[in-house]
Amino acid sequence: MTEPSRIYLSREDIAGLVARLAGEIDGNYRDRPLALIGVLRGCFVFLADLARQLQAPVRRVDFVRVESYGAKMVSTGSPRIVQGIPRESITGQDVLVVEDIVDTGATTAAVLRYLRRHGPASLSLCALLDKPSRRQVDVSVDYVGMTIPDHFVVGYGLDFDQRYRDWPDIWVVEPAHED
Ligand code: IMP
Repeated sequence: MTEPSRIYLSREDIAGLVARLAGEIDGNYRDRPLALIGVLRGCFVFLADLARQLQAPVRRVDFVRVESYGAKMVSTGSPRIVQGIPRESITGQDVLVVEDIVDTGATTAAVLRYLRRHGPASLSLCALLDKPSRRQVDVSVDYVGMTIPDHFVVGYGLDFDQRYRDWPDIWVVEPAHED
């Protein structure tokens, strides 16, 4: 059985990362209204915290959902947008995409491609966690909470087979050993 084995980032650590990210974003956008687009489902806790820390006016919160992971720890083929946003809803707006974690980059690349078609004035990317060592698709993150090595992590919105999203801290899941 694969279980979370140790806390990787405590809720206090995470709050510190979120506050720092909000400060960086505010420094760049100042009073420009911002559309936050979260990538479901993992973003839901992070986006809720980030949105409340931002001083910049949040003009819109919306979500896209992408299908790519099953009950496995590896990506299963190319991601599909299975829930989009209304046509022209972000046209001409400053858009910040909010991700829990960028891993291979395939999901993020698909989301950015999809959103670009809506004609935003600008499109930036914020991810709580980034695993650049796993990257297969070239994606760079404008606002990174923390760069982490190749660990599988859960909690604070992140799941393993839909579990642990409600855990307030972020834990590492060690792969099960075949003895
Ligand atoms: P990518 O397309 O490989 O970059 O995967 C992005 C998505 O995979 C994220 O939005 C997460 O939902 C999921 N994912 C990647 N790494 C982890 C992890 O360590 N824990 C939980 N989910 C992850």
